[in-house]
Amino acid sequence: MNITYTGTISVEDYNTLRTSAGWKVVNPEQAQAGLKGSAYIIAAKDGGQTVGVARLVWDGGPAALIKDVLVLPEYQGKGIGKYMTEQILSYLKAQMKPGWRITIDLMAAIGKEGFYEKLGFVSRPGKNRGAGMDMWLTKE
Ligand SMILES: CC(C)(COP(=O)(O)OP(=O)(O)OC[C@H]1O[C@@H](n2cnc3c(N)ncnc32)[C@H](O)[C@@H]1OP(=O)(O)O)[C@@H](O)C(=O)NCCC(=O)NCCS
Repeated sequence: MNITYTGTISVEDYNTLRTSAGWKVVNPEQAQAGLKGSAYIIAAKDGGQTVGVARLVWDGGPAALIKDVLVLPEYQGKGIGKYMTEQILSYLKAQMKPGWRITIDLMAAIGKEGFYEKLGFVSRPGKNRGAGMDMWLTKE
């Protein structure tokens, strides 16, 4: 195993990683738009195979969202998810100007809260913080 990292991922590989986690496949056109619109993408490769991804949605100011932190099951537990998430945090830190403050949101999958807590994230709800909330919009 020789893991390298790159800043791009194909829609096909992105959806393969989603499927490996039991997540729904994203419509290819929509997935392409999402990848293109991401502020930062990091993908892990083992040779030619894409084995992990993480991406950042950021408004360029105070609001950021980490999405799609995914590692293929056979590559989990090797520090890949941690490295990719840390790279996102490093990228954001490098963009910040003196006096800036950024809130980084994410929605942990069930049982993955501890992974993010080790990276410094705080679970909600908590003191002075309500629950994270979301909603699906669909169009037939
Ligand atoms: C969650 C996920 C991205 C973690 O990636 P990973 O590469 O397996 O994790 P790492 O090996 O980098 O682990 C980093 C640290 O987090 C810990 N960790 C990993 N998963 C954990 C979990 N579910 N709960 C608590 N701690 C966890 C590891 O033990 C390790 O601790 P250490 O630094 O003290 O050694 C991976 O399990 C995954 O892709 N899961 C399926 C998709 C998913 O649920 N993604 C999260 C979406 S919100």
